[in-house]
Amino acid sequence: MMSAVRLGVLSGADIAVRRILPALRDRPDVRLAAVASRDPAKARRVADAFGCAAVTGYEKLLERDDVDAVYVPLPPGLHTEWVSRALAAGKHVLVEKPATVSVTDTARLTLQAAARGLVLRENYMFPHHAQHRAVRDLISRGEIGRVRSLTATFTIPPRDPADIRYQAALGGGALFDLGGYPVRVARYFLGSNLTVLAAGLRTGAAADDPVDVAGHAVLCTTDGVLAHLTFGLDGPYRSEYRIAGSRGDIEVNRAFTPPADHPPEITVTRSGGSERLVLPPDDQVGNALGAFLRAIREGDSHPDAGIVRQAQLVEEIRRRACPAQPAVRSLTRPAAAPPVRWADPG
Ligand SMILES: NC(=O)c1ccc[n+]([C@@H]2O[C@H](COP(=O)([O-])OP(=O)(O)OC[C@H]3O[C@@H](n4cnc5c(N)ncnc54)[C@H](OP(=O)(O)O)[C@@H]3O)[C@@H](O)[C@H]2O)c1
Repeated sequence: MMSAVRLGVLSGADIAVRRILPALRDRPDVRLAAVASRDPAKARRVADAFGCAAVTGYEKLLERDDVDAVYVPLPPGLHTEWVSRALAAGKHVLVEKPATVSVTDTARLTLQAAARGLVLRENYMFPHHAQHRAVRDLISRGEIGRVRSLTATFTIPPRDPADIRYQAALGGGALFDLGGYPVRVARYFLGSNLTVLAAGLRTGAAADDPVDVAGHAVLCTTDGVLAHLTFGLDGPYRSEYRIAGSRGDIEVNRAFTPPADHPPEITVTRSGGSERLVLPPDDQVGNALGAFLRAIREGDSHPDAGIVRQAQLVEEIRRRACPAQPAVRSLTRPAAAPPVRWADPG
């Protein structure tokens, strides 16, 4: 019988309480050992709700011998410090997206993990949903011909002004929070050998707004397939992509965060009309957790080039965006595309 991985959670983050901790229940491959919060009452509240030990302070959780792995859903600007400390304490790490807010830090952490024989994974969950494999199958069967372009959008309505997403010091902003999804889906279908051709970021209306609230980017593969990516914290809610081919196209709505009971729909349009395929529901949260736990069991601690490539593309989008003046961010086109140094199959 496999032994359950004993998991600790750094913080009582909304995503932990709402999506991840409920998904741990009834799994034979994991046991929730402890939840840590800066606030003892919150630690107790969350621990009581999910039946585990309550710990005050993240460091104390990392000192525990009954924790094999930690889940890190802290604000992005704190990921580097706490992932590094968790790895130094000998824990495997599932870190929320974005893994860090710097390519250098992400690369360093992947090497730190590999050197210790520890698993480090970035928690983009949607690639673990079966609907995208179904789209890949349709494409490889030639259903839409040769892929010409991809458009992907992830926008959500404005959040509470106190939200971590509006705090620059915590790694806030639409690019870090949402932009990574369209980038990840472009990598999933087109591969990681992408170049950022153009990008734009927009801040809020006030001149001193600290973070980007929306943006666009245009990426290109070496053989000329374009990806147009849109992301924003200023709504409406849209979570979708469309892949256009030489003979038709494929559209997926509810692409990035479908609930486990949602029957996904894929629309395939060709000259003869549209066909709607309805798939069985799938649980991307459980699947993503399962993949992390399987990697631990199988000792799969190879450095993850994919998360470094992801961070490079996100950083390149920010660099290309070149904010020019408050509230107006022009599209910029580089003189020459930079060389791509990391490649993985997506
Ligand atoms: N994969 C997904 O589908 C998904 C969805 C949503 C969010 N996320 C990611 O999950 C992470 C957390 O997002 P969230 O929406 O859950 O955020 P959140 O509810 O604000 O939680 C962040 C937690 O970090 C802790 N924290 C430590 N220092 C803090 C500080 N200076 N200010 C604020 N909080 C601090 C707090 O926990 P304590 O008070 O308990 O210490 C807080 O509850 C982000 O990386 C985000 O991108 C992923």
